[in-house]
This record gives sequence, structure tokens and C-alpha cells, in this order.
Amino acid sequence: MSRSSSAPMPDQLWRPLTQHAALKGKPSHSMVEAKGCYVTDQSGKSYLDTMAGLWCVNVGYGRQELADVAQAQMARLPFLNPTMTAEPTATFANTIQDLLGFKGHVYFSASGSEANETAIKIARQYHLQAGAGGQSRFKIISRYRAYHGHTMGALAATGQSERKIGYEPGPPGFLHVMPPYPYRANPKLSLEEHGEECAHLLEETIIHEGSGTVAAVIMEPIISGGGVLIPPDNYLPRVREICDRHGVLLIFDEVVSGFGRTGSLFGHLHWKTLPDIITFAKGLASGYMPIGATVAREEIFNSFLGEPGDLSHLRQINTFGGHPVATAVGQKTLEITLEEDLAGNARDVGEYLRGQLEDAIGEHPHVGDIRGMGLLNAVELVEDKASKVPLREAGVTGLIAHAFEGGVILGRNGNTIPGRCNVLLISPPLILNRMDADKIVAAVAAGLASIAG
Ligand SMILES: Cc1ncc(COP(=O)(O)O)c(C=O)c1O
Repeated sequence: MSRSSSAPMPDQLWRPLTQHAALKGKPSHSMVEAKGCYVTDQSGKSYLDTMAGLWCVNVGYGRQELADVAQAQMARLPFLNPTMTAEPTATFANTIQDLLGFKGHVYFSASGSEANETAIKIARQYHLQAGAGGQSRFKIISRYRAYHGHTMGALAATGQSERKIGYEPGPPGFLHVMPPYPYRANPKLSLEEHGEECAHLLEETIIHEGSGTVAAVIMEPIISGGGVLIPPDNYLPRVREICDRHGVLLIFDEVVSGFGRTGSLFGHLHWKTLPDIITFAKGLASGYMPIGATVAREEIFNSFLGEPGDLSHLRQINTFGGHPVATAVGQKTLEITLEEDLAGNARDVGEYLRGQLEDAIGEHPHVGDIRGMGLLNAVELVEDKASKVPLREAGVTGLIAHAFEGGVILGRNGNTIPGRCNVLLISPPLILNRMDADKIVAAVAAGLASIAG
């Protein structure tokens, strides 16, 4: 059934994170195409998408070569039972493994939430089978402000109360500790002391829970959706030491920070700290296809080997995990990422963007902090610099709406912590150039001016 493009669309779409009452009576607004860093709506107006969709369209929109790969794979082998081996899926697993600094096996799913669910299950089953503490190691420690996904396990690991209210109780066995947050740290502490303090609190939590009950710590190297919280340099290496000391697995959620976003291929490389399990999604196929991946070190994988008929293997299947079209597109995405050195561009343009933001708005009373790494960036908005009280909701939404009207889509840490959703997020495609960085700066500055007072 075809519908002419001018016919009014019935709006039965239930959107995520959206208060639909606020949309009532407003004309429906849909996006119809995109190219590079820009998406275009049905009226032909283009918007600079500073969120790369949702931290994922790393190679930019409109890459014909990705469409070609998808089309060819659909024609050749559009789907295969994931217990069998599809050629592009095996190839992509090897490609991912070769880029990591440790040997492991790659389990594919279809999203970041599933990738984290899988990591949690692998960690628990590993302890049961490896004899490293036995069946009682089931607890998962994560951090406040972090987002790990919407499914019940990943949501339980998430440290953002607004994403959980109404959906709890979640599964038991999930605990949270505070992450490093340099902007709001005790000002009497140096950056290093703050990192040490946060790592110490993690260790104390493990000890007080009984280290023999803790299966894993899961963390993003840089908390992204929770407000771009960059740890002091000593933090991740200390977390690694602590996990090793207590026989706890370290899971890095690199759903956002993987594959170039932070200016290096993986976020953890900035701190030369390797995980036991790592998860990816988002940029893995640049949002052109849904895909997630969980990579476990070889020692962990080996603990799943056993006799046929026993239960030591991973008893999980994701129908769309390792989808041949998604893995073929993922393979091409990674080739583009490496050939065009998108991590290098993220580093260069990200640094330029932060410099320009500092020059243009650094002194503005509502700008508390400008921070970021590569093209994972944030501007924390406050009522005033001295009090650091988070900027009121209407100010944050007003600024974002003003930028949108002017053709720039900005992100924020929406529905995270009550009263603390005051961080603008800027995480564009990794192909961003300086001219577009200037446009972002101008849009933020104009948005700030529009909410003056
Ligand atoms: C760090 C992190 N982990 C996991 C997820 C969940 O990914 P998905 O929405 O693909 O399930 C997200 C999504 O924003 C994320 O930012």
C-alpha cells in the first residue's frame, strides 16, 4: 500500500524516552534522508546531527559502499541459523579479535543491551565452571550514572534511577559505586587522589560484600550517556589491580567508546588497561545494521569447553546475533574506520571543538565544565559557576530546542539522575570537519544566549 508523501501520516509510533502528551497538536516531524553529518526532514530542512544518530553513525550517513555490501549479502545469504557459521560472521569475529590486545572469542548479538547481558551471564557461568570461587560468585558491581542497557540485567547494572523507576525490582545481585567525576569531586583532592579514592571505594565494596561473592565489575572506560565522565589516569589501572587481587572479572562496556569515538580505536587503550570481557554495539556497524558483540578472553572461553551433553557451554542464542548482513556491513565499516583513520580525525577535530567551545562559551555563567575525549564531548550546564547547581530543566531544554530550530541536533543526559540531566552531549560522526565543529559551537553559544538570565 503506497502513501503519497504529502498525505498526513497517522502517528501510531511509540517513541523511546518521549512524553507523547507534549507532542499533541504539533505537526508530525519526520526525517527522510541523510548524508555525511546531516539529516534532512520531510520539508527539505537539514540538521547537523551532533549525536551521530545515537552515538553510532561513526562513518557518517550515506555511505554507498555499505549499502552495496548489505545488498550483496542479502542476495547471497540473508540469514543463517546462528548455531551454524556464516562466512562474513566468522570473518568479522576474526577481524575484531585481531584488533584487540588479547586473544578471545566473539559472541554476536543484536544490541548493546544484549551484549552486556551476555557478558554478565558469561562472567557468572565462568566462575561456576572455573572453580574460581564457586557458585557463590554472582554479584555484579557497576557505577552510578552509567548506562548499560534497557533489558532487565543490563538495566539492573545501569546506575541511572530515572531509567529504572517503575520497572523495578530488577534481578538481585547488582550493586553500584560512585564513579570518578572530576568536576564534582572534593576540591581538596588532587585529580589523582580522587581517582584513588574512587578505586578504594570499589575495593572496599568488594571486601564488604565478600569478594568470594563478586563475579564481575562492569564499567565504561568513560561514562558516556551519564554525562561524559572521564576518569583520572590512575583509576582504570587501579581497578584492574583490584579485580585481579580479588579474582573478580573486569568487563568494559565499549558500546559507545569502541571503534574510534574517543580518538583511539578503543577507550581502554588510553589507560593501557585490558579487560577480561569487552562489549561493543553502536559504531560496530555504524548504525547501518543492528549488531552487538561480547568478546571474552580465551581462558574464559576455555572454561566453557566440556563433554558433549554436559552443560558447560553457553546456553544462549540470539536469533539475530551474528546476522550475516550486519557482520558484512560491520566488516566494511571497520575497514573504512581504519583506512580513513577516523580515530585520528576524532582526536584532532575533538580537540579543536573543545578549544573553540572554551573560547566561545568557557566564561559563560551557565557553563560549568567543557570536557571530552575525541568526539565524545559534553558541556555541563549550571545555574552559576560558583554553586555548580545544575541548570534548571527549562534552560537545558530551551537551549536544545533553540539549536534544533537553527538546524543543529544536540544530545543531553536525559532521564538519568533526577535533577542532574544538565549535561549537553556532543558526539557527532567521526568524519566531522572543523567547519561543522564551528557550527556546533555557534549553535551552543546561540542557545545559551537564548536562555540568558
Ligand atoms: C554504554 C552503553 N551500553 C549499552 C547500551 C545499550 O545499547 P542498546 O541501546 O543497543 O541496547 C548503550 C546505549 O545507549 C550505551 O550507551
